Amino acid sequence: MGCTFSVLAVITVVIVGVIYVIFTRLPKSSKKTLFKLIHGSKMKQFSNTPGPTPVFPMGSVGKLLGSDVPWVAASRISAKYNSGIILIWVMGEPAFLINSTSLLKEVLQDKDIKCFNKEVKHLGPMLGPNDPFCANGDEYHKLRELHPFMRPNWREIWLPSQTASIRKLVFINLSKMAMASKEKPIKLMWLCQRMMFDTFSQSLLGTTLGDEAHEEYHFIGEIGDIRIHSPLQQKFPPWQPKYHSTMKSWYARFQKFIDASYANPEPTPGATDLINFLKKERAEKKYSPDEVGETLHGGVYSVGSAIVSVIHCLAKDHLRVQKLKEELNKYIGAKLDSFTYDELQKCEYLECVLREALRLLPPVSFYSRKANKDGVTVNGVELKKGSTVMISTWDTHHDGTFWTDPFLFNPERWQVDEDFLKNNTYGSDHFCPFGRGLRQCMGYPYGLLNIKISVAAFVLTTNFSTDPNTWKDNFFFGINMPYSLRGRVTLNEKFPSQL
Ligand code: HEM
Repeated sequence: MGCTFSVLAVITVVIVGVIYVIFTRLPKSSKKTLFKLIHGSKMKQFSNTPGPTPVFPMGSVGKLLGSDVPWVAASRISAKYNSGIILIWVMGEPAFLINSTSLLKEVLQDKDIKCFNKEVKHLGPMLGPNDPFCANGDEYHKLRELHPFMRPNWREIWLPSQTASIRKLVFINLSKMAMASKEKPIKLMWLCQRMMFDTFSQSLLGTTLGDEAHEEYHFIGEIGDIRIHSPLQQKFPPWQPKYHSTMKSWYARFQKFIDASYANPEPTPGATDLINFLKKERAEKKYSPDEVGETLHGGVYSVGSAIVSVIHCLAKDHLRVQKLKEELNKYIGAKLDSFTYDELQKCEYLECVLREALRLLPPVSFYSRKANKDGVTVNGVELKKGSTVMISTWDTHHDGTFWTDPFLFNPERWQVDEDFLKNNTYGSDHFCPFGRGLRQCMGYPYGLLNIKISVAAFVLTTNFSTDPNTWKDNFFFGINMPYSLRGRVTLNEKFPSQL
């Protein structure tokens, strides 16, 4: 019986394989006809929505999955069809690429979680059961409410208290970068990621975790990345034994610190980490190991990427580095080892530089939603439950009808008039590096603090350069991670002598 089944399975696979090969070798015109023959009735429903002509068997999704990163491919498609909503066939299923500000508002803000789900269950095993990032519906609201970053005093009390520890770890990491730079150009993305791994661990647990933990972190990221690139949404945990042993060791590391901290229910005087903050706040829910892991995976890659974007933009622009230096010297230069959160917030040009780099090179450029019921409409087009809507922040940030010379790095554009910064804040129509609406990034104020301190330290205490020929966009774990970029860092006379 078992033998007959195996033979039948092999024969079926061979037949399907042969049919697939025959069909993929057909001339393009026949493939178009074949697609129409099979999916013609569905196609009729969307005859008014423009998009690339689908061919059998993949539809038109190949246009997005070519050799370019998806946001660049999407941008090419948008330019060609010049429409706010573009139809992309994913095999026989319609999906929609949206790139107009009004449609982004419609999907992410007006209809948000009521009509759309985030379908990232395949990342669930990496991010754990408490991450609102993966949740939808009632479960989402519950997890969001319980999240430490939603505590009333998180922003007012915890966030400013992180300035000192982030600053110290940034200086330690810059000194390591300068040391490595003496030998050869350094892998800037990798080292900024490592720097953020230190600042985040310190903020969450009150300790850094070291190289071995960072290797575990990145291995889990790599497994997640494979899943993001797979055309099949994998619902089950990865099969690899190394994945399971790594997750066990990863969570056990955090559990050790959590147990030690909660052994005393009273907060440790002077401690600023998140667990002690929750103790002070008398939060009813304890911090759990998967929440630590989820925050590291939610932020370390993207904040590291943002720092690299800013440094790369500035490296080509000595005049602006000079201008930024003058401002930083005015507010924090005299107290590099003790400046406060409030003093950093006074640096308006720093804010403009940051926003401009996040506009030009947004770390999260492309993501999606799925309609969570039949009959949801976007721009009047009626979607079926499960239809995908693809969102391109890249296109919004490079829209030439709003941004003059959109591909130029020009921080002064944020100062054209005194209301520009106020009117184009994070999550507004033309600027949404952290998403927008209800599901806008929960960690962005903490992300911004890390970016500001890192950029201030780079600019004031080092000389840095990057090799523009080594920049290559790289879609990793849903984020642009240009690991190929090479740069150099040397410390200058302002670098603190004692850390
Ligand atoms: C420069 C740094 C960052 C960028 C560019 C970024 C970008 C984004 C974007 C675009 C979204 C919305 C995704 C969507 O709507 O599908 C998002 C959501 C989220 N981010 Fe970030 N993020 C950054 C830093 C962080 C940090 C530091 C944390 C945590 C410490 C974090 C945690 C989250 C979480 C939990 C969500 C889900 C929010 C929800 O669904 O309600 N992010 N982020």
